[in-house]
Amino acid sequence: MIRKFFKKNRLTFIIAIVALAVLPVLAAWVSSANLAPPAPTPRSVVGVAYPRNYRQDFTQYATIQRPDGTIRDVYMNAVGIAAVKGYHILPIGTVIAIEGYNALKTADGSYVTDANGHYVKGDPLPFVHVREKRIDWTAADFTSSARNGSWNFGSFDFKTGATYNESLNACFLCHNTAPEDFTYSVEQMADFAYAGAPVYFMCRTTGRTACE
Ligand code: HEC
Repeated sequence: MIRKFFKKNRLTFIIAIVALAVLPVLAAWVSSANLAPPAPTPRSVVGVAYPRNYRQDFTQYATIQRPDGTIRDVYMNAVGIAAVKGYHILPIGTVIAIEGYNALKTADGSYVTDANGHYVKGDPLPFVHVREKRIDWTAADFTSSARNGSWNFGSFDFKTGATYNESLNACFLCHNTAPEDFTYSVEQMADFAYAGAPVYFMCRTTGRTACE
């Protein structure tokens, strides 16, 4: 009687057993696909955090030399570097640090250059400038009412990493006119992606004006 019932409904049984085996896997897959994005890392700092080991942990993508005797090295974290290599826009989580140096001078006041015409670094500028892109900034993280999309700015003492005492308002105002995503060194980023190595850029303008 049972055998007969089983024989008659064999296909139904097989389907039921297969369904029982597959359903939990399917359910797990669906629920994992629907999971909310991971919560942002809780923040213990106000504003942009100083990326203490940027020289080791970040990748240098450019050096920018200007006729006023300044040399700036620009470093970006892995999130930003990966995006740049894929020619994507800089994602949330990108951190960029720029440090500067004055070129060494000879006794007659001209800048010392190496065989490539590159300035030889002298004293560092007293600050390291940092930009960070996050989605979870709160009003308390800004010292200026100006905004640059999801970017925030920080300035840190070159030697100690402590907050450097300068207004961040100018950062927002100037970067507001940057060529792309409030970022000035986009061309250097693209050149870096193409070359696969940091690029040396001889900017023709002085100060903090955009290079031509
Ligand atoms: C008057 C314009 C100006 C001001 C003010 C300014 N920057 Fe910039 N910034 C630039 C330019 C131009 C570059 C490109 C590098 C270069 O040419 O030296 C740059 C580059 C940067 C970079 C590298 C990424 C990028 O956007 O290219 C960071 C990080 C940065 N600035 C942070 C800051 C911070 C922090 C402040 C304020 C404390 C600040 N900047 C103020 C013009 C400015």
